[in-house]
Amino acid sequence: SVSKDVQKMLEAHELLKKFYHHLLVNTKEGEHALDYLLGRGFTKEVIDRFEIGYSFDSWEFISKFLVKRGFNLEMMEKAGLLVKKNSADQYFDRFRNRIMFPIMDHQGMTIAFSGRVLAADDQPKYLNSPETKIFNKGKLLYNFHQARVHIRKNQQVILYEGFADVISSVRAGVEYSIATMGTSLTEEQAKIIRRNVSDIIICYDSDSAGIEATFRASKTLSLVGCKVKVALLPDGLDPDDYIKKYGTEKFKSDVIGASVTLMTFKMHYFRRGKSLQDEGEKLHYIENVIKELSLLESSVEQEMYLKQLSTEFDLSMEVLKEQLHRVSKTEK
Ligand code: CTP
Ligand code: MN
Ligand code: MN
Ligand code: MN
Ligand code: MN
Repeated sequence: SVSKDVQKMLEAHELLKKFYHHLLVNTKEGEHALDYLLGRGFTKEVIDRFEIGYSFDSWEFISKFLVKRGFNLEMMEKAGLLVKKNSADQYFDRFRNRIMFPIMDHQGMTIAFSGRVLAADDQPKYLNSPETKIFNKGKLLYNFHQARVHIRKNQQVILYEGFADVISSVRAGVEYSIATMGTSLTEEQAKIIRRNVSDIIICYDSDSAGIEATFRASKTLSLVGCKVKVALLPDGLDPDDYIKKYGTEKFKSDVIGASVTLMTFKMHYFRRGKSLQDEGEKLHYIENVIKELSLLESSVEQEMYLKQLSTEFDLSMEVLKEQLHRVSKTEK
């Protein structure tokens, strides 16, 4: 039956999570993987707490292990743990020679894995379990099961892009940290967040992919009623890199503590890569900002940002207000 299958799949994931962890921390073959993690600044404590593991460099180590434990290989392939050879009825291990991050659902059940390569240029950098009966990537928020109580207590959540960012953030003492598995936040994920909290800080990578994704995620989150702020990082760094380079205190004060309103982020976003010396681009920027301002509900906020424009571009408040009213009318 379906529920029997699901039960077996969950059982296999729970067992493999422990097994991969054992292979990382207790075996000779796992030593280089452990060294890699320690070298990146992961501590023994976080390796234990996030139950990180290692998959051996073998095509059949895990399939043999699963057979010995009485699991059905066809079902294990459906669970995403094994891959089937096109021709023969032969199965091999999906995850080989990778750092294994177990993915827990919001109740804490292990439902998938993401495996990271050790060598910098191997592809793909992260290999995820496919969508299965027990794993739906678009509904999953990494670390949500551990973070939820802290999110509720602090009435705040920080959204990251990657596992390492969440782990470093938790190490820094910021427990209300979660991540999507990659950069696109779905409406379902946004709704799950909103059911638990309204204040959210997006802290994605500072590369273009991260900045574009911040813009999109902020829209999705605003639509479900979240109050969004954005934590900005210096160019080229992600939160994990930043913490390693500058330490946890500076991260908390200068990144999280200095997070900006969504409007300020948008102003930053609209002028990215633009030269505001250029008249056309300057006008376009001002129009973009005023259009966004017209969507704000608070006139106090509107006035605050209009003042910034007025000062920066030496325009009178009267002209800016008139433009805002005009845009407001056409937007409605
Ligand atoms: N990701 C993925 N598949 C890839 C690359 C990335 O699923 N081929 C997901 C992972 O969940 C990853 C997140 O996207 O954590 C963010 O990607 P990236 O910023 O490239 O990775 P980092 O989290 O910074 O990974 P690391 O620090 O280990 O290099
Ligand atoms: Mn352990
Ligand atoms: Mn990234
Ligand atoms: Mn990153
Ligand atoms: Mn990183």
